[in-house]
Amino acid sequence: MTDPDRPTPSRALGRKTIRPSARPRELITPAPDLAGVWKARVITLFPGAFPGVLGESLTGKALQEGRWQLETIDLRAFGKGRHRNVDDTPAGGGAGMVLRADVLGEAIEQAMAGTGGNWPLIYLSPRGRPMTQDLMRRLARADGVTLLCGRFEGVDERVLEHYAIEEVSLGDFVMTGGEIAAMALIDATVRLLPGVLGNQASAEEESFAHGLLEHPHYTRPAEWKGRPIPEVLLSGHHRRITEWRQAEAERITRERRPDLWQAWLRRRGETD
Ligand SMILES: C[S@@+](CC[C@H](N)C(=O)[O-])C[C@H]1O[C@@H](n2cnc3c(N)ncnc32)[C@H](O)[C@@H]1O
Repeated sequence: MTDPDRPTPSRALGRKTIRPSARPRELITPAPDLAGVWKARVITLFPGAFPGVLGESLTGKALQEGRWQLETIDLRAFGKGRHRNVDDTPAGGGAGMVLRADVLGEAIEQAMAGTGGNWPLIYLSPRGRPMTQDLMRRLARADGVTLLCGRFEGVDERVLEHYAIEEVSLGDFVMTGGEIAAMALIDATVRLLPGVLGNQASAEEESFAHGLLEHPHYTRPAEWKGRPIPEVLLSGHHRRITEWRQAEAERITRERRPDLWQAWLRRRGETD
C-alpha cells in the first residue's frame, strides 16, 4: 500500500490508508482489520473470483475509500496431502464429492479468529433461508460476516452443526458454487452501510424498504415510441406524485407478490 508512483491517499476511515488508485485485487486485505469498518471474509476455492463485480461502481468506490473491507480465505491452503485435497467421496456412496470437515474447520476457525459476538457465519446453500432485505439490514448492523462458499455436492454436515452455521440461499435453483451468492449478499449489504450510497434516500424509498415493491421510474425523453411519461409526474404537484407512487407500489406488489402484499396488509391491520 506504499507505492510511491501512486497519487495522494484518500480518506482513511480506519487505521490503514487505502489509496484510490489501488486495483481491485489489491483491495482484498488479508490483515489488519480497519477499526470499526464492516468486513466480509469469504472462504472459497476461487479467491481470484473476488472482488469481481464488487470492485465496480458504488461498492468498488466504497471499497477503495475503506468504507468496507474484503478478505478471501483460500480453502485450498487448508487442503490435505501433497495435492492439498479439500474434498472426498460421500459416505454411503453416491455421485460427486463433499468438502471435508477437517479442511473446512481449519478455514472457518481462521476466518472467525478475532471476531466478536456480532459477526455471523453463513454458508451459501440452496437449502438455506432465502435472502431478504431484512437479512441484509441485520448483516449491515453486524461488525462483519464470514461467508462459506460450497462447491461439488456441498459441505460435510457436521461442520454446519458444530459451528451452528446459518444457511442462506440466493433462490430456488442450484449453482455450481457459492461465490455468486456470496457476492449478491455482500453487494446488497454493503449498499446499506453508512456513506456507501451517495443518496441515502434511495435506500429508504426502494423496493422492500417499507414492505412494498417500488413504483415505476421514468426519465427523458418525455415521449418514447408513442409512450408518454404519466402526466402526474410532470405536474410538479408533490402530494399527487407521492400518492401516485404509493398507489403504483401497492398495485405492483399486489399483482406480482401476493406474499408480500398479504404481509404488508397484516402489518397495517387490514386483510384483502
Ligand atoms: C452444486 S451446489 C450443491 C448442491 C447440493 N448438493 C444440494 O442439492 O443442495 C454447490 C455449491 O453451490 C452453492 N450454491 C448452489 N446453489 C446455491 C443457491 N441457490 N444459493 C446459495 N448457494 C448455492 C452452495 O455453496 C453449494 O455448496
